[in-house]
Amino acid sequence: MSALTRRKSLTQAGPPQGGHALKRTLSWPHLIGMGVGAIVGTGIYTLVGTGADKAGPAVILSFAIAGLVCAAAALAYAELASMMPASGSAYTYSYVSMGEGVAWLVGWALILEYTVVVSAVAVGWSGYFVGFLEGVGVHLPAALTSAETAKGGFINLPAVLIVFAVAGALMVGLKESATVNAWLVVLKLVALLAFVVLALPHFDAARFAPFMPHGFGAHPEGETTKGVMAAAAIIFFAFYGFDAVSTAAEETKNPSRDLAIGILGSMVICTVLYMVVAAAALGAMAYPDFAASKEPLAQVIRTLGHPEAAALIAGVAVVALPTVILAFLYGQSRIFFVMARDGLLPRRLGAVSGKSGAPVAVTLVTAVVCSALAALLDLNHLAALANAGTLAAFIAVSAALLVMRRIAPDAPRPFRAPLAPLVAFVAIGGCLYLFASLAHTTQIYFAIWMAIGVVGYFLWGVRHSALAKG
Ligand code: ALA
Repeated sequence: MSALTRRKSLTQAGPPQGGHALKRTLSWPHLIGMGVGAIVGTGIYTLVGTGADKAGPAVILSFAIAGLVCAAAALAYAELASMMPASGSAYTYSYVSMGEGVAWLVGWALILEYTVVVSAVAVGWSGYFVGFLEGVGVHLPAALTSAETAKGGFINLPAVLIVFAVAGALMVGLKESATVNAWLVVLKLVALLAFVVLALPHFDAARFAPFMPHGFGAHPEGETTKGVMAAAAIIFFAFYGFDAVSTAAEETKNPSRDLAIGILGSMVICTVLYMVVAAAALGAMAYPDFAASKEPLAQVIRTLGHPEAAALIAGVAVVALPTVILAFLYGQSRIFFVMARDGLLPRRLGAVSGKSGAPVAVTLVTAVVCSALAALLDLNHLAALANAGTLAAFIAVSAALLVMRRIAPDAPRPFRAPLAPLVAFVAIGGCLYLFASLAHTTQIYFAIWMAIGVVGYFLWGVRHSALAKG
């Protein structure tokens, strides 16, 4: 078998045998908690404004489209996670189904995704943090709170601060605590519901006309791209994070039922919630008045005459968004760990500290890169780039579903995706369409990143692969 196509077997990708198997303690409510905890973040709290700017009121449609594509990919994740309940998710599924070359590219795209998601959520957090401080009378200079030079910004220091704070916690061995996470999930949801309850009395259906002022397909308009699909390609950011659930497959009591309910349940809850929040915002206030805000939900509620509630919503964002940063920083260390274990990345990068068991080296490197990106780039560019990496991973996972059905039709599948070939084709087609709807600059940056990855594979990975060495 050539280097590019050598594959791991299902046994090699499965959970460790013997004494290393994890205890099965989780059932679907835990999984929904984990899913919603990693999913709800800057996407709905901040990018809802960007989406409205691109699509107008039809951003609701953008939410539905992005949610549908994600749900289709989520079904593929659920099936593969139940077959291969091991760390590494999309990377591991690709290694088993399509071989090392594709797996490397997927791992490389995941590294981009996790890095840039952390930066994007940090910038989103910064917007609410600065708004919160202003609410209590503390004003930071514009030059230090944003990277947007056109608006007087220079460097986003709060975003740097939160990246290092969360990375520091991870490096001293903080683990996601299920109880703390559950409380933060409840807080995030309550804040969004409070937003809806406060905005609804101001609802005016006239604000939904014209419904689609920028048309459907993505197209350049001025400095940016517009249209329902351009918004969907950004809003897509709000939906991912559910692979956090698939990595818990090994610890699930009844994977066939719980994984599916966990992954799909969190998707459905988020899609419905997002559409309701977006509709409430659009109905309560003309969208151009909040679209450019760095804390759109707080801004809408403040303008409607509830400054205390606005401060509370901002406060919840400040307290709860770091859990999304934590989830993705942790995901980054896991992907490095698995790729280094496979010999595809230097082992030192994947190492965990002997004392705390924390992934110190990779977390520190990631934090430096993430904070630099967060300091100097604006949210829309970061989110778009993260989406490009994620779309690539989703396409690979959906393709892996098709390949596995063909090459291992009888392998045990505790969960089988319903309507399998169709679901995979919807996911692949949808992801390609979303990718095509991203701005050209994003597509180019993504291509450059992947080209570096190809060079990296031939310079390093191909020669150090553990699989090649047997
Ligand atoms: N879905 C996550 C968020 O919106 C990445 O913050």
